[in-house]
Amino acid sequence: MPDLIFPPGFVWGAATSAYQIEGAAQEDGRGESIWDRFCNTPGKVKDGSSGDVACDHYHRWPEDIALMKKLGLQAYRFSVAWPRIIPDGRGVVNEAGLDHYDRFVDALLAADIEPFLTLYHWDLPQPIEDRGGWTERCTAEAFVEYAEAVSRRLGDRVENWITHNEPWCASMLGYQTGHHAPGIRDFSAALRASHHLLLSHGMSVPVIRANSRNAEVGITLNLVPAVAASDSEADRDACRHFDGYFNRWFLDPVFGRHYPADMVRDYVDAGHLPPEGLSFVRPADLDMIATTTDFIGINYYNREVVRSEKIPEAENKPRKVFVAPESEHTDIGWEVHPDGLREILIRVDQTYQPGKIYVTENGASYGTRPDSTGEVHDVRRIQYLREHLAAAHHAIDAGVPLAGYFAWSLLDNFEWAFGYAQRFGITWVDYQTQQRIPKDSALWYRDTILQNGVESEALKATA
Ligand code: FCB
Repeated sequence: MPDLIFPPGFVWGAATSAYQIEGAAQEDGRGESIWDRFCNTPGKVKDGSSGDVACDHYHRWPEDIALMKKLGLQAYRFSVAWPRIIPDGRGVVNEAGLDHYDRFVDALLAADIEPFLTLYHWDLPQPIEDRGGWTERCTAEAFVEYAEAVSRRLGDRVENWITHNEPWCASMLGYQTGHHAPGIRDFSAALRASHHLLLSHGMSVPVIRANSRNAEVGITLNLVPAVAASDSEADRDACRHFDGYFNRWFLDPVFGRHYPADMVRDYVDAGHLPPEGLSFVRPADLDMIATTTDFIGINYYNREVVRSEKIPEAENKPRKVFVAPESEHTDIGWEVHPDGLREILIRVDQTYQPGKIYVTENGASYGTRPDSTGEVHDVRRIQYLREHLAAAHHAIDAGVPLAGYFAWSLLDNFEWAFGYAQRFGITWVDYQTQQRIPKDSALWYRDTILQNGVESEALKATA
C-alpha cells in the first residue's frame, strides 16, 4: 500500500506534444514547420524518420481520450501546432486548424480531463524561419498573434496555459548546437533566439488572460541540476557556467532577476556577445519577460556532472567519483537520478518563490517490447516513475507548492532527433498497425492516481 500520499487536489496527468504524435502533416490546411523541413534534410534524424504519421493521433484522438479515461488521468498536457493555426506564420488564421482543437478540447472536458495547453512545443512555421525565426524580434510578435488566435477560440474552456516548452531546447539545440530544427550552429544567434522566446512568453501572458477569464498561465523550463566533477576550482567554475547556461539563463529573467551577469561576462569573453553585451535587449523587455505568472512548469529527466575542459583528462579523474559505474542509465543514455527532482524543486521554490509548480514532464526511455501474450512488462519504467514521485513527495514535505505531475509520455512517439528508436510512452504504440497497448507502467500509474500516492520502498524487479 502507498505510504507517500499526495495532497488533496494534486493533479495527475500525462503529456505529449503535437509534432511527436499528431501526424496528418498535410491535412486541413496545415503549413510546413521547421521540424518537417529538418526531418526531410538527410542526416538530421537518426533513423531518417519524421512526424508525418507518428501516432496518427490527429485521427485517432477519440480512442486516445478513451485510453486516458481508462487510465484515470485527471489532466492532459498537449500542444497546439502553430502551422495548423497560422500556416504562413503570420496573417490568415486557418479555421479548420482551430476547429480540430476545439473538438478535441470539448471531448477532453466531456471525459472530465483537464486540458493543459502548450502553445509552443517547437514546431515553428517554416515561413517564419525563412525570415530568421527566433533570432528575429518580430517572431515574438508573430507568436503573440498566434496566442491571440488560439486563446480567443479556446479561452472559454481551457484554463491552464503554458506559453513555451523548454526554451533552452528551442534556442540552444535549435540554433547553437543544431541538433534540433532549424539546425543552425551559431551561439550568438541562439542567445538572440533565447531572448525572443522569453520575450514572446511575457508578451503573450496578458493576451491569454484577456481571452481566458479563468486562465492560469505559466512557462515550462527543462532544468538540470549540476554537480562539479571534482572540488577543483576549474570544475566548480565549469559547473557554475553550466548551471548559468542551462538553468539561470531562463529562470532569472522569468522571475525578474535580469540575465545572470556572470553569464553575460562569459558570453562576451567567448565572443558570443558583442563587448557591449546584450545589444538585442530593449529597456522594457525584462519587465515584460518577468510578467507575473500563475505557475512554473518543470521538466525533469536527469542531472549533469560537469567537468572543466580546461583540465587535461588525466588530471581530472575525480569525475568518476560522481558518475558511479553502477549508476543506471535509460536507453537514451540519461542517468537515473531521482533525487535531482527533489533538489531542483526545492531550489526553484526557495530561490524564486513561484507560488505554484507543476512537474510538466518526467519519464524514461526504455524499449521493453510486448511479450508473447502481448503485455509490456516495463518494470524499470515503473521504478523510474515511482522513485521520481517519491522524490517529488519529499519536496512537498519540504514545503514546495507542487500542484501536479505529468508523466512523459502518454504514448510512445517521435522522439525528435532520435526518431522512433526511443520509447518514452507508458503506452506501447505499434507504428505499423497504430495499435496502443497500455504498458504495465500505465496500469501502475492508474493505480497510483486512484490511491493518490506511491510506496516509498522500492518494488522488487520481477522482469
Ligand atoms: C523533452 C521534450 C519532450 C520529449 C522529452 C523526452 O525535452 O519536451 O518533447 O522529447 O524531452
